[in-house]
Amino acid sequence: MGRFDSTERMLTFGVVGTGVMGRGIMQVAATAGFRVVAYDTRVGAADEAKASVTRSLAKLVEKGRMHSEAAVSAEQAIEIARHIEGFSRCDVIVEAVVERLDVKQELVSALDGIASADCIIATNTSSLSVTAIAARCRHPERVAGFHFFNPVPVMRLVEVIPGIKTRKSVVARLVEVGRRMGREPIVVSDSPGFLVNHVGRAYMPEALRILNEGVAEARDIDLIMREAAGFKMGPFELLDLVGVDVAHAVMESLHGQFFGDPIYAPSVITSRRVAAGMLGRKCGEGFYRYDKGKLIAPPPVPVPKALVRSVWVSPNETEGYRVVRSLLSDLGVAVEESERPSKHGLCIVTPIGQDATSATTAQGLDARRTVAVDTLFPVARHRTVMRTPVTTAEYVDSAHALFATDGATVSVINDSAGFVAQRIVAMLVNIGCHIAQLRLATPDDIDRASKEGLNYPFGPLEFGDNIGCRRVLKIVERLHSSYGDARYRPSVWLRRRAALDASLLTPDAPPDPAREALDRDLQT
Ligand code: CAA
Repeated sequence: MGRFDSTERMLTFGVVGTGVMGRGIMQVAATAGFRVVAYDTRVGAADEAKASVTRSLAKLVEKGRMHSEAAVSAEQAIEIARHIEGFSRCDVIVEAVVERLDVKQELVSALDGIASADCIIATNTSSLSVTAIAARCRHPERVAGFHFFNPVPVMRLVEVIPGIKTRKSVVARLVEVGRRMGREPIVVSDSPGFLVNHVGRAYMPEALRILNEGVAEARDIDLIMREAAGFKMGPFELLDLVGVDVAHAVMESLHGQFFGDPIYAPSVITSRRVAAGMLGRKCGEGFYRYDKGKLIAPPPVPVPKALVRSVWVSPNETEGYRVVRSLLSDLGVAVEESERPSKHGLCIVTPIGQDATSATTAQGLDARRTVAVDTLFPVARHRTVMRTPVTTAEYVDSAHALFATDGATVSVINDSAGFVAQRIVAMLVNIGCHIAQLRLATPDDIDRASKEGLNYPFGPLEFGDNIGCRRVLKIVERLHSSYGDARYRPSVWLRRRAALDASLLTPDAPPDPAREALDRDLQT
């Protein structure tokens, strides 16, 4: 293979497939000062993509984020190819076409036949094996994964994924090209979902389970994950951003590649929505509706006008008891001091990983007057109130009104082991632990990739440490016993560190430099 200097000013960068991801890649490549050649099999699609990039650049100029001259030169750097042969003079080509192995294999092998000897051929696949995509090429050694995140201009991480036959020098060059594009490249293994989409298996899929069980509506799940758990976007807002079709394809692909492991099970909700063409933001309708790309916010749920009765708080969970007592005192509500609740008072429990029914029956409380409140996450802006199946509307409304008195938002949900946020976050930590145990990435890389690729407030292992690994284990164990589903089996990584009360970031063995050097050589 010949040489090209990836630090040379004018690199020619090809993009095949000009959907949402292709457009974003075109924009960051053109902004980096590369000459961009774009192509799409649908007539007119590449021109539409160029017009959309021009609009995005204009917005950046308007916001003072870019000089107008830089925007003009980026726009002028984009050329539309009318045939795939237009890629013969590229230094790097990235394909971002539909997520189907047969389509990608055929395209990549066609590019392999057209591209110059020095050219790197990259795939932006989110979940297919890079090795399999390169399998039909004459030169699989020049094929690698180059995986960007949506919205590409904003998300800094890019995964660089060597296939089994990829040359080490190709990986190094892609890392360099990624840096020139203003990204933070991370080299990850060619394992299903690579690193970031593997970590992401808890967020949207667990939320879909919660929705499917009728625990809460999509808007409430989103509200809880943003306002209480601190995520930038709720799982359903994210599904609409990524594309319900894309997200569903990733779920199906990972489930298949992990031979049906229930941790990765896809959802019937997304398959139905794909069939109905409700694909999210890009088509104006998904879990939400959009007007010219802007989400039409659903109207807020009205706060009931209900009588706030006397309140009793269960002391069973010390921390939860403290949080609710202090909140009620801030709200000016007197709390019953008796060991057992009075005859007509509202009873509040604060379980960790348990549903309201189990917490209520275990403590011998009157389920008709009991609600559970999630205290694992901050309660300043948002509160989750969970009813048992028999809690009366009168008591639910009282609890809703009570926790909304200071203007905080309240989500009233049906019974669920681990509410919404405990359940999603515990699964996120458990999957992060699973990835660490499989040695697919170092603990530090797992956390870094999640923060940079998904904008999570914490990496999964750090999140687990913040909550306390014993508490996370308790939630996962209770989910496991509640559902009897291997999806919720606790990772041994989590079990061991919880038993030792050690940080989840603790590696199995300290890194051995000699062994690492040997592994690097073997990958050449
Ligand atoms: N395209 C370009 N820019 C966008 C954008 C879009 N679709 N959406 C938002 N932005 C820009 C805004 O214009 C704004 O820019 P300025 O600071 O210059 O004004 C900036 O992003 C912040 O936007 P907002 O203040 O409106 O909203 P926010 O703070 O919530 O940030 C977000 C928006 C960056 C998208 C944030 O919500 C986020 O990080 N969400 C999670 C995104 C994520 O997880 N992406 C990965 C998905 S998985 C994937 O892509 C891989 C795959 O294989 C499927």
